[in-house]
Amino acid sequence: MLARTLLLRLAENKSLESLVRRNRWSARIARRFVAGETIDEAIPSVAGLNAQGISASLDLLGESVLRADQVDATVDTYLRLFQAIRESGVDANVSLKLTALGLDIDEELCYCNMARLLSAAGPDRFVRIDMESSAYTQRTLDLFERLWNSEQRFRNVGVVIQSYLRRSEEDIETLVKMGARVRLCKGAYDEPESIAFPNKTDVDENYVRLMRRLVSDGVYPGIATHDEKMISATKDYALEQKIEPDQFEFQMLYGIRRDLQTDLVKNGYRMRVYTPFGTYWYPYLMRRLAERPANLMFVLKNILRR
Ligand code: FDA
Repeated sequence: MLARTLLLRLAENKSLESLVRRNRWSARIARRFVAGETIDEAIPSVAGLNAQGISASLDLLGESVLRADQVDATVDTYLRLFQAIRESGVDANVSLKLTALGLDIDEELCYCNMARLLSAAGPDRFVRIDMESSAYTQRTLDLFERLWNSEQRFRNVGVVIQSYLRRSEEDIETLVKMGARVRLCKGAYDEPESIAFPNKTDVDENYVRLMRRLVSDGVYPGIATHDEKMISATKDYALEQKIEPDQFEFQMLYGIRRDLQTDLVKNGYRMRVYTPFGTYWYPYLMRRLAERPANLMFVLKNILRR
C-alpha cells in the first residue's frame, strides 16, 4: 500500500519525469507497456492483436497539458490516427484524456476539441474518454453529458467509472438511464478515504455490484480488469442471467496478462486491449508500477543488468 502511494505521488513529479524519460533504459522498459512512439509503430501492434482475435483502443499518451500548442498537436495526432485506422483497416477505437485536450487550460477549448474529434471520427468510430483523478470526475461527466445532449447528439462517445470511488454507484445509475457506454475499472490514482474505499475488498465488492448493473442494463459495457476474480464474477453473472457474451467486452492493458487475454478469446469472449503509444509515457508507466510493485523489480533488474 505504501509503495503504491509513493509511486503514485512520484508519477506527478516533473523533475523525476525528465530524469526518467531521458534514461534510455527506462525508455526501453516502458516499451513493455507501450506500443511504440508513433502511429506508424502502434498500428502494426494493433494488427498483431487483431490477428489473435483481440480488438484495441489506441491512446495517445499525454495528460495534464497546460500549453495550447501541445493541445493542438494532440488533436492533430488524433485526426491522423483516425485516418491511419481507416486506411489500415485495423479493428480499433480510441481512448483519450480530457486534460490532454485542454481541460486544465479552458473547459470551452476542451469541449470544442472533443466535438471536433467526435465529428471527425464519424458515427461508427467510438471514442472513450478515460477517467482521471477525482479532481476531474465531475468535470469529465459534465463535459460528456454536454456532448451527449448537444445539437449533434454525439453517440460515438463513452466514459469510464472507477469502482474505488464512493460516488460511482450513483454515476452508474445516471449513465445507465442515459443509455451511455461505460468502461468499468477499479481506479488508478491516489485518492483520499473520504471519497474512495481504502480497502481492496470494498473496491472489489463495489466492482462486482457495478459490473452486474452494467451487464444487465448498460449498453455494451467494457469490463476492464486483469483480476481473475472480477472476470469469473462477470462470466458467472452473464451465464446465470442468460446474457450473451457479445453483449459486453473484457478489456485489459497492453502487455499485461497476455495469457488471460488470449484464453478469454479462445473461450468465446470479446477482448479489447488498451494500447497506448507516444513519448509521454512516464505517468502511465508509474501507474502500472504502482498497481503491481513487483513490476518495479523487473525495472530494477533491467537497469542493473546493463
Ligand atoms: P488488481 O489491481 O486487483 O490486479 C489484479 C491482478 O492483475 C494482479 O494480481 C496482477 O496479476 C494483474 N495486474 C494488475 N495490474 C498489473 C500491472 N500493472 N502489471 C502486471 N500485472 C498487473 N484507471 C483509471 O483510473 N482510469 C481509466 O480510464 C482507466 N482505464 C483503464 C482501461 C483498461 C482497459 C484497464 C484494464 C484498466 C484501466 N484503468 C483505468 C486502470 C485500472 O483502474 C486499474 O488500476 C488496473 O486495471 C489494475 O486493476 P485490476 O482490475 O487489474 O485489478
